[in-house]
Amino acid sequence: MLMAADGEYLAHVYYGKKIPDEALVGIMRFDESPFTPATNNRDRASYLDTLPLEYPCFGIGDYREPVLRIHAADGTSTCDLRYKGYKITEGKPALEGMPATFATEKSPCNTLEVILEDKPAGLEVSLFYTAFEQLDVITRSAVIRNVGEKDVFLTRALSACVEFDTHELDMITLNGSWARERAVERCRLHHAKQLVDSCKGESSHQNNPFVALCEHKADEDSGEVFGFNFVYSGNFMAQAEVTQHKKTRFVMGINSIDFSWKLGRGEHFTAPEVVMVHSDAGLGKMSRTFHDLYRSNLIRGEYKDKRRPILINNWEATYFNFNTEKLIDIAREASKLGIEMLVMDDGWFGHRDSDNSSLGDWFVYEKKLEGGLKHLVDEVNKLGMKFGIWFEPEMVSPDSELYKAHPDWAIRIKGRELTMSREQYVLDYSRKDVRDYVYSMMKKILDSANIEYIKWDMNRQHTEVGSSALPADRQKELWHRYVLGVYDLMERLTTDYPHILLENCSGGGARFDPGMLYYSPQIWCSDDTDAIERLKIQHGTSMCYPCSAMGAHVSDCPNHTVGRNTPFATRGDVALVGTFGYELDVTRIPQQDRDAIPGQIEKFKKFNPLVRTGDHYRIGNMFEDNTWDAWMFVAKDKSEALFEFVQVLGRPNERSRNIKLKGLDPDAYYYEESKPEEKLSGAALMYAGVNVAKMWNVDGLYGDFVSKTLHFVKA
Ligand code: GLA
Repeated sequence: MLMAADGEYLAHVYYGKKIPDEALVGIMRFDESPFTPATNNRDRASYLDTLPLEYPCFGIGDYREPVLRIHAADGTSTCDLRYKGYKITEGKPALEGMPATFATEKSPCNTLEVILEDKPAGLEVSLFYTAFEQLDVITRSAVIRNVGEKDVFLTRALSACVEFDTHELDMITLNGSWARERAVERCRLHHAKQLVDSCKGESSHQNNPFVALCEHKADEDSGEVFGFNFVYSGNFMAQAEVTQHKKTRFVMGINSIDFSWKLGRGEHFTAPEVVMVHSDAGLGKMSRTFHDLYRSNLIRGEYKDKRRPILINNWEATYFNFNTEKLIDIAREASKLGIEMLVMDDGWFGHRDSDNSSLGDWFVYEKKLEGGLKHLVDEVNKLGMKFGIWFEPEMVSPDSELYKAHPDWAIRIKGRELTMSREQYVLDYSRKDVRDYVYSMMKKILDSANIEYIKWDMNRQHTEVGSSALPADRQKELWHRYVLGVYDLMERLTTDYPHILLENCSGGGARFDPGMLYYSPQIWCSDDTDAIERLKIQHGTSMCYPCSAMGAHVSDCPNHTVGRNTPFATRGDVALVGTFGYELDVTRIPQQDRDAIPGQIEKFKKFNPLVRTGDHYRIGNMFEDNTWDAWMFVAKDKSEALFEFVQVLGRPNERSRNIKLKGLDPDAYYYEESKPEEKLSGAALMYAGVNVAKMWNVDGLYGDFVSKTLHFVKA
């Protein structure tokens, strides 16, 4: 709930559990010193420094974190937005050139637009709030317009500020590194500022644009939780600040490090969307709300509600060392086992034999792909399989023909050495001519053969950020213009090729964000394919992203990243949580693993509808106890549920585990598929639990890395 305090300042009144439409002004402290400026103009600054605000500005006495700061024509930074008016419209307007959630018939929504103005600065701001009625979701974004006579530079333009009337909150974030993305961390808020951010040009491996603030006592199943996720794939910041009066200000938006945006007369800037989820029943409910929203109101395209083809990707099978014959061998064997698509990963273009060359030369490496791409794809199609291909369209290698012809197309600063990373540079996607050229090369490839899937990779972060096409006073726009350029090309690609399944990827999972989900229904979760490491990665990712969007493959052992050996069955059960596929040389793995593939595929096909449409419940938590993990997917109508358990480490002399299931109908009776005669109520299964050893037979609990799935069906 918002109000115009003193008729001027857009104040925040309440955000939390739904309450009837009542005036809550009583909870505002207008009758406490320093009082409102209308009654005490002497202390306007102190008033503004304590008033909970919706879109706080820099420079007028509010010394907490601002969301808007400018560089005016006179060189000063102050801005001062005052309330002007509001509008309510049905539905949800699209965000120009940017990903955002949308309304559907099944989930209608209304949008509130609050208009603010700063007359001396010549600025008008529209704050957009969309409430999704059937989900506890509010989305926010802002449009800032220059309605004055002079240019104004925005040096900070965040998307949302939410004020909490307490500091008794924990902050949950998803942090990590390459191959161990999105580890869950939780800490108590304390005075001053706690920040997660990225200034790498992508949402990053290190911090994800997600934050949950929750009561100290909140857990998976109880307590109040506020989840925030930024629908954006570049630099971001998300910060909680505990203020002098033990209140909390939370802000989220584009990182203001090296950000500046010039607004000429009549120009506007759109701040990307923040999704806010409220849960009165713990983290689990928050996650399920995010999952429902993203599955129905963010992900688009033909595969949105469809099972994805079971693919085999040759990256861990061959790395750069492959040719047509090798790929056809893999496809031949894979097709016999029920695998439905071959994905040719990195190394098929230019003269790329290692990661030091040819990015930008998107034409076929004839020496490797003898007979050409069409021949290979046709052969794969003849085996009854689809064909997919890898691109890294945003990059360029120094030895490429593209770079030699257009060195100025790389992001760089004239006169400075360009820092190398993975032996490559980043193309200047703020430039339409660059995007057009890259796209024309991609189109040639896509039109040359029957390609039905693309893995769009992005393997380095930005340095020396400068564009040869931007004037000096717009250089700091490049970070954001780059992201808009990426979105533009993804939009063109998905519009021109609606049948192609797009999977995003960034050195594993460095761009696992809702912005990317708008263009691709799945994202490669991590380069770490080890089943045990994946338990943590997938658990963390599920905080706000649907499991059905997580790229997850069964790979070979010893695992290439951690050297661990795990049973083939466990690898399958863990990959089943995500999109499912294989990333191994199927012609060389042990015969018994090969023999297990058809059964695994059958299992995946059986449970994938539950994974895609059901409710996800986390039961174990590897961040707290790394000896076991468990989770469930429950059908929306509670008619069936998949329960998965992984014993990570066997332990001597332990009592067997009774695990309480979640999400079932307490009054209904269920049986485990393999034991139809044994019926138990949902209440018994949830409140007393199932004994894993018995369900399994005792031997099953002996050993490390063993998994079990149980399928409960309503009697
Ligand atoms: C990234 C991806 C991998 C693979 C390689 C190819 O690291 O995450 O899956 O595609 O690039 O270079």
